[in-house]
Amino acid sequence: MYSVARTSTLRGASRLFLRCESTKIEASIKINDKSYPRDPNYTNVTPSIIDHVNRSLHKKPNHPVNILRDLIEKKLNSVDNSFTTYNDFSPVVSTFENFDSLGFPADHPGRSKSDTYYINDKTLLRTHTSAHEMECYSKINSTGKPGFLISADVYRRDEIDRTHYPVFHQMEGCRVWKGRSIEQMKQDLNILQQHLDKHEMNLIVEDQSLNNKSPSENPKQQYMTDEEVSLVSQHLKRSLELVISEVFNQKIKSMKRENNTTQEIPNELKLRWVNAYFPWTAPSWEIEVWWNNDWLELCGCGITQQQVILNSGFEKDSTVSWAFGLGLDRIAMLLFEIPDIRLLWSKDERFISQFKDGEINTFKPYSRYPGSIRDVAFWLPGTTESEEIHENDLMEIVRDNAGPLVESVKLIDRFQNPKTGKKSLCYRINYQSMDRNITNEEVNEIQKNVENELVEKYDVTLR
Ligand code: PHE
Repeated sequence: MYSVARTSTLRGASRLFLRCESTKIEASIKINDKSYPRDPNYTNVTPSIIDHVNRSLHKKPNHPVNILRDLIEKKLNSVDNSFTTYNDFSPVVSTFENFDSLGFPADHPGRSKSDTYYINDKTLLRTHTSAHEMECYSKINSTGKPGFLISADVYRRDEIDRTHYPVFHQMEGCRVWKGRSIEQMKQDLNILQQHLDKHEMNLIVEDQSLNNKSPSENPKQQYMTDEEVSLVSQHLKRSLELVISEVFNQKIKSMKRENNTTQEIPNELKLRWVNAYFPWTAPSWEIEVWWNNDWLELCGCGITQQQVILNSGFEKDSTVSWAFGLGLDRIAMLLFEIPDIRLLWSKDERFISQFKDGEINTFKPYSRYPGSIRDVAFWLPGTTESEEIHENDLMEIVRDNAGPLVESVKLIDRFQNPKTGKKSLCYRINYQSMDRNITNEEVNEIQKNVENELVEKYDVTLR
């Protein structure tokens, strides 16, 4: 999520990476029959990532991500049928759509090549569904509905483990009040509250943002009155509480029905609202749910910055709106008790035959294929910060060579020679397939290719 400042910065490794990349390239990249010119200074999208572009798990019948999307869309539209749904947007967007239209500052870490898959300097694979907010806001007048929901695959360079995958799914939701009628807001909130009151889930909500001692930390926008902020934020919060009540109530029902889970079945659901920051909303929040003895972050949201609404063609001071962005994959993993995010991408019948549209059921694990561990240890070429390798760049090399055969990559040792100042790193790669047995020869071959690519691109010395 984009709320917290992400720690990664663009270091020298990306520079090295690009220098070498440019020596073996074709002039353009083809995605969905459209060609995009490469840019040696920007292009970092790889074939294994492009392979995901048309998988559309959020639209695949009987798939957990699709089942969850459908459940949320139906629940939100059951209140007053106010959301148009968009599920077919192409993942290729401009830097303007993904960042500028939303007011991302020029130095926001989300823009860096170590975090984002660029096709060229102006085009990228969307990193979030907010990239389509502007377009959908501008269609509000023609749809006749005051809200919209966008579900789509999104792409981020990241670490490799059981809960991170470079492609995942989000649902964006927005709701506007044109003309800013207080009466309309009150009426809409009232209807929503009735739905929440009659929901059978026992909710316990803590709103940490209400005891906000210094409002300057999460300020409202000048053009809105206190009453509007209060009504719009209540409508946003109650909408998300309704969605979460529904989703977790379905889970609890399925646990009771199946009566075989090792987890304790809760009889209430604890939620908490915390303050957050996003460039395109103010104020902003996150909602977390207490599940399996842990707070799980579900969703970022807030009141849309007027600038986004103006970018979409609305007149100044005419309109107020809320927006949220919900990650679907981790919630699906939790609902269906899927232990490894790669399973969502599995084409194995033993996985895909287990789910049915409209139902939440617990995934029954089938025999796990044995894994195979390899370490790669190397000296970095120099001693300065700028000669370090960004971890996401290393992850990308492993991903590109191993595809779905890598389970996790972890830094297990880091050492600096006190005399020479030279740095040595050791990463442990766990190779394991979700769908089949992998042979030692196969793993050795991949490992060799990973090592060679590290040497070639980053000039490291293997140990
Ligand atoms: N796009 C944000 C993310 O990916 C979530 C978000 C959406 C936050 C809409 C606020 C409003 O982290």
